[in-house]
Amino acid sequence: MAKLDERIGFLGGGNMAFAIGYGLINRGIIKPAQVVVSGPNLSNLERWRLLGANITEDNGVTVTKCDIIFICVKPHLLHTCASQVEGSIDRVVCDKDKLFVSVLAGISLDQLELAFSFMNNLKIIRSMPNTPMQVGEGCTVYTPGRYVTTQDLEKTHLILNSLGIAQQVPEKWINAVAAMAGSGPAYVFTVIEAMADGAVKQGIPRQMALQFAAQTVLGSAKTVIQTEKHPAVLRDEVCSPGGSTIVGMHELEKIGIRNAFINAIEKAAERNQELGNFKK
Ligand SMILES: NC(=O)c1ccc[n+]([C@@H]2O[C@H](COP(=O)([O-])OP(=O)(O)OC[C@H]3O[C@@H](n4cnc5c(N)ncnc54)[C@H](OP(=O)(O)O)[C@@H]3O)[C@@H](O)[C@H]2O)c1
Repeated sequence: MAKLDERIGFLGGGNMAFAIGYGLINRGIIKPAQVVVSGPNLSNLERWRLLGANITEDNGVTVTKCDIIFICVKPHLLHTCASQVEGSIDRVVCDKDKLFVSVLAGISLDQLELAFSFMNNLKIIRSMPNTPMQVGEGCTVYTPGRYVTTQDLEKTHLILNSLGIAQQVPEKWINAVAAMAGSGPAYVFTVIEAMADGAVKQGIPRQMALQFAAQTVLGSAKTVIQTEKHPAVLRDEVCSPGGSTIVGMHELEKIGIRNAFINAIEKAAERNQELGNFKK
């Protein structure tokens, strides 16, 4: 696995930032000392400090010290965060060759460029990652802004792809992918919990039920990826005629399982669109 020499910054050290930072450190791609994380409350950055990363309350320090800066605040805090950076950095920093990567749901490249317009020829990439990056199984899409070079793109791809899979897509697809892959872990965790509950109801101990449910999801996902068979074909292979699985499938169809997922993703995509419509 390639190692990076760049200093990596995080504006906001919450769950998504930690998934990326921890993933990179855990896989040996960067050392903790290369990381600077800023947020309004140092006490909330304790897990970063324990990891060996540098923590600060000053977003300007993160931008000044780092080469690649992930913007990881909530979408409505974009302008607050950008103003804090602008108010804290030296003018010379605005001309430095820095690369920004946003993970903000719903926030377009145009909005990002506007918020950070004090950086000259702002190099920014809009991305949509997901939290399984912390275990190296993330799924990230990204779109580069106008000043991003091929070299920047290669570096960003290396970082994101080293924590799962990463792919460049047209910006107009990002909200939809976010609704599926960005939010998806929450849906799948719920499926795992619910499957385990089903087993617990049948008398299986909770811990064992959770482990078996998670392994079943992991194995099913790997089967889709490695066999490249359509999920419906793979499902048919499990549903023996007259067997128990088809009876279980019938119950799921009665409550509209597929309809539920399609609706969830449609509504989440709409919400991503709304998140980008906040007033400054
Ligand atoms: N979570 C996911 O699965 C996921 C997936 C894809 C994309 N995203 C995107 O990731 C971003 C962060 O989401 P999250 O789930 O990681 O939220 P989160 O856990 O709440 O993290 C947000 C962090 O931002 C910090 N913060 C607040 N104001 C700040 C400021 N002015 N400057 C710097 N940091 C500030 C917060 O610190 P305090 O807690 O101390 O206030 C918190 O640590 C969002 O834009 C979201 O759309 C999240």
